[in-house]
Amino acid sequence: MKLFCLLGLVVVSLAGPATQRFDGHKVFRVKPATEQAVRFVKSLADVPKLDLWQPDSLDQVVVGINVDFRVGAEQVAEVQGLLERSGLQYQVLIKDLQTAIDEQFDNGDRASYQHSYVKYNSIETINQWMATIVAQNSDMMSYSTIGSSYEGRPLHVIKIGKKTGSVKPAIFMDCGIHAREWISPAFCQWFVNEAVSTYGSDPTMTDLLNTMDFLVVPVINVDGYSYTWTNDRMWRKTRSRNPGTNCRGTDPNRNWNAGWCEIGASKNPCSETYCGPVVESEKVVKAVADYIRSQRSVIKAYLTMHSYSQMCLFPYSYTYNLAANHEELVSLTAINKLGSMYGTQYVYGPGAVTIYPAAGGSDDWAYDEGIKYAFTFELRDTGRYGFLLPESQIKPTCEETMLAIKYISQYVSEHL
Ligand code: ARG
Ligand code: ZN
Repeated sequence: MKLFCLLGLVVVSLAGPATQRFDGHKVFRVKPATEQAVRFVKSLADVPKLDLWQPDSLDQVVVGINVDFRVGAEQVAEVQGLLERSGLQYQVLIKDLQTAIDEQFDNGDRASYQHSYVKYNSIETINQWMATIVAQNSDMMSYSTIGSSYEGRPLHVIKIGKKTGSVKPAIFMDCGIHAREWISPAFCQWFVNEAVSTYGSDPTMTDLLNTMDFLVVPVINVDGYSYTWTNDRMWRKTRSRNPGTNCRGTDPNRNWNAGWCEIGASKNPCSETYCGPVVESEKVVKAVADYIRSQRSVIKAYLTMHSYSQMCLFPYSYTYNLAANHEELVSLTAINKLGSMYGTQYVYGPGAVTIYPAAGGSDDWAYDEGIKYAFTFELRDTGRYGFLLPESQIKPTCEETMLAIKYISQYVSEHL
C-alpha cells in the first residue's frame, strides 16, 4: 500500500500540471464601422475573461479595424446575444478552440519529443536542438548564455557567421517575446538551420555570413513559452509575480525604455499589456537589452518576430513622429519579396499609424539606441487560425519570411 501511494505520487509529479482545455471557446471577429460600434466593442471589456487576440488592447479599437477575441464556453451565448442585438456584423473565426489547438499538431504526433523544423518544439527540445546544431557546426556557430528568466530558465543567443578572426558587423534577431505566438520561435529555428546549411551553396547567404554575423535569441520569453506548453496555450506575458494581486506577468513588449507606458500599455498588472513596475523589470528583457547595449557598436539591424496579422512594422510605435530614415525604411520593406513565393499579402509601415500606438516596444527601443534598421514582423496568418497556426504552415511561412530577412540583411550589409 505504501509503495503504491509512493508510485502514485511519482507518476502524478512526472505528468505535471494538466494543460487547460478550451472546449467550447470561440474566437469572434467584429469590424466596427462607426464610432457607436467602436463604443460597443469597447464595452465588451465588461465580459469576464474576454481574451483579446487582435489588437492587444480594447483601447486600441478604432473604426475599420478587425477585432478578434476569444470567449469562454460559459460566456459564448451571452456574447453572441450581445452581438446579435448590437446589429454589428460578426464572424466566428474559430468555432471550437480546443479542436483548433489539437489541429495545430498536424505534422505527426505531439507526444514525440524529437526536434523538427516543421513542428512546434517545447523549450526543452529547443534548448537541446541548439546545443546539438551548434556542436555540429562549431566552425560557423557558437552560443552563449546571456542571462536567466524569472523562473530560472537560461536565456541563450546563437551567433552564426564565418569566423574571420576580426569583429564583424551583426544583425540581431529575436523570437518568442509573446508566449503564445508559436510560429515565431519556429522561425528562429528555421532561420538558424537555413543559414548554416545554405552557406557555401546559396550566394546571398554565403556573402552575408562571410561579412556579417547573425545573433539569434530563439526564445526570449522562455517562462511564458514553457507555460503555453504545460498550462495555458493562450498565455502571452512573462510569468513574474505582481505584488498585491494573483495576476501574473508583464507584457515583455511594453517593458522597454521607449516612451515606456505612455500609450497603448497598461499600468494594471491584470492587463495583457501591463508595462511592468519599471522599465526592464523583466529579467529576460533586461538581459537582452544589456546584451544589445554591450554589442551596440557591432549590431546594425534589429529584427523581432511576432504573430499574427502579416505585417512588417518599423518605428515609431510610441509616437506618431516618423523615424529619421522613414523613407529608407519604407523602401526597404521586403514585403513584395516575401509575397513573391506564395502570394502572402503583407501590410507595412510605422507601428503607430499602421496598427496602433503602443509604447515600450523593443523595436522603438533598439532604434533609439541608434540601430537604424529595426523591424517587427507579424507572421502568418490574418486570423483564420491566429495564434494556432497549423504545423503544416510552418514550412511555407518560414520559406517566405527567409526571403524578407535575407533581403533586409543584404541591404544592411551594403549600407554599413
Ligand atoms: N503586436 C505587437 C505588439 O503589440 C506589435 C509591436 C509593434 N511595435 C511596438 N513598438 N509596439 O507588441
Ligand atoms: Zn506579439
